[in-house]
Amino acid sequence: MKHLIDPTDLTKKEIDEIVALAEDIIAHRERYQGSMAHKKLATLFYEPSTRTRLSFTAAMMELGGQVLGFSNPQNSSAAKGETVQDTVRVVGCFADIIAMRHPIEGAPLVASEVSSVPIINAGDGSHSHPTQTLTDLLTIKRELGRIDDITIGFCGDLRFGRTVHSLIKALSRYHGIKVVLIAPDELRLPDYIKQDVCEKMGVAYRETDSLDEAIPELDVLYMTRVQKERFLDEDEFDRVKDGLVLDARRMALAKEKMAVLHPLPRVNEILTEVDEDPRAAYFRQVENGKLVRMALIISLMEWKDDPAHTMPEHEAPIVNPALHCANAKCICNNEKHEPRFRLAENGITRCWYCDSKVR
Ligand code: NCD
Repeated sequence: MKHLIDPTDLTKKEIDEIVALAEDIIAHRERYQGSMAHKKLATLFYEPSTRTRLSFTAAMMELGGQVLGFSNPQNSSAAKGETVQDTVRVVGCFADIIAMRHPIEGAPLVASEVSSVPIINAGDGSHSHPTQTLTDLLTIKRELGRIDDITIGFCGDLRFGRTVHSLIKALSRYHGIKVVLIAPDELRLPDYIKQDVCEKMGVAYRETDSLDEAIPELDVLYMTRVQKERFLDEDEFDRVKDGLVLDARRMALAKEKMAVLHPLPRVNEILTEVDEDPRAAYFRQVENGKLVRMALIISLMEWKDDPAHTMPEHEAPIVNPALHCANAKCICNNEKHEPRFRLAENGITRCWYCDSKVR
């Protein structure tokens, strides 16, 4: 069964096919209007969302399909203690495809292990957000005409921002990508992305805490909000929340063709004075999110049982009772799942579900 849990579940060819299909939908909307007639999408949202849930809903409706689900887990059996796996087994009897957002990292992965229908990860904790990545790639393609050979700056909360983690993973498969990581010390990109993705895949990256210094060289500036809800320590949040703000003065330092992306919602990291700048692509990006989700739903429904579109092969997990995942937000510490691990770059052992480093 083909699912989308992590951006690396798609080959570069599959990503390019989804982006190309989204572009074809833009050119020929009418051809796709009934393509999901009599099909149902379930949206299981255990965490707040406006854009992602509504864009999945709008995408399925535009394809002529129907949508069911919940946006508040208090209204679902999760409130009675049902596990994620039991919930998807049940929902698989009602729906043809499931989009799931969950605050616990690895929840969509364990769901996919038992699901009879494709699972789409619509964001799990700070970990991964592959459909935002497809949105971002389509936006870069439409704004700049290419995805290869770009210098992209990620600014803000690179530590907890799952959209950043997923986009870097996907971009690592393209040619000539240079990454500039713009963040204060407290919000730097997790080591596992730097080591397992950038270093392994040969993506050139550098770190800085100055947007002024970085902005002139960028083709894409990817702004992010500080993820307040993921901080365990309130004081730490207060210290970092206003550090890097994009305003008209900084836009004047940038290239004429630079594109500003933001997964939204924004808080105060982009001043509204930037919105009218033609380089501000973040509202166009929202529209792209719906289009690329239309393309993804069509693709997964086509690919789900096609042997040419399987999930990537992974080495067997390491099961060792002496090892322990220390991430309180990992599924293995919230539901009864066998702790599993994998050996990553530089001999580091990581949790199978959430990728955190095991000491
Ligand atoms: C992002 C998310 O949920 O991770 N938003 C989105 O999906 N459009 C970014 C965020 O919440 O800051």
